[in-house]
Amino acid sequence: MSDLLSAENLKKSFGTLEAVRAANLRIAAGEIVAVMGRSGSGKTTLLHLLAGLERATAGRIRYREQDLSGLDEEALALWRRANIGLVFQAFHLIPTLSALENVAFPLYPVRMSARERRVRAEACLGQVGLGERAQHRPSRLSGGEQQRVAIARALVNNPSLILADEPTGNLDSTTGNEILALFQKLRAETGAAFLMITHDDKVAATADRVLRMADGILADGKGIA
Ligand SMILES: Nc1ncnc2c1ncn2[C@@H]1O[C@H](COP(=O)(O)OP(=O)(O)OP(=O)(O)O)[C@@H](O)[C@H]1O
Ligand SMILES: [Mg+2]
Repeated sequence: MSDLLSAENLKKSFGTLEAVRAANLRIAAGEIVAVMGRSGSGKTTLLHLLAGLERATAGRIRYREQDLSGLDEEALALWRRANIGLVFQAFHLIPTLSALENVAFPLYPVRMSARERRVRAEACLGQVGLGERAQHRPSRLSGGEQQRVAIARALVNNPSLILADEPTGNLDSTTGNEILALFQKLRAETGAAFLMITHDDKVAATADRVLRMADGILADGKGIA
């Protein structure tokens, strides 16, 4: 099967510190992959490289047939908006906006009527089971509900790949399991692939494959095409 995303020999240095030394991975469409590794091993840095939020010092990222290293900042931002959803440990919702407005937020740069935006955001809140909470501000939602809003926001652009940095790290295990079940449901419904970073073996066990990162090095048993 052809890859959705592949990274070859990615490196990222911050000054003299090599946060990512050699990262190799391949993600197929609809695949759920977990990345584990000790604190400081470079997992978040890798996720930022894959999302195009940071530029690699060396190496190559390909998305479908496209080589991302050739894109300028603007093209990279457009690519991200069209293809990638991001979910973080600490939810990162805007406190003054309702759940619905938070979900609709990424759609503002897109040419779309206010009504279309609302309909699309409502559909995504429905997908995460929060249709009834649309008008709540984040402070009136539980941690699990806030993370579901953040996932709905990640879905609103119809991404093919969702990158999640310790998405259950701030949640108790029952609520975390609900988020993991939601990932499985969303994969079945949308065909999206997920790459999730986790410190928890039980979380990683729900993925199709588990990759381990150590000292900036990540090898993917699938090898490099
Ligand atoms: N913007 C930055 N500037 C300088 N150093 C950085 C920067 N971002 C990360 N680092 C360093 O790169 C290394 C890898 O950090 P990273 O956040 O990727 O680790 P991690 O595996 O996600 O750790 P954790 O499990 O604690 O989240 C660390 O030594 C960190 O201090
Ligand atoms: Mg991290």
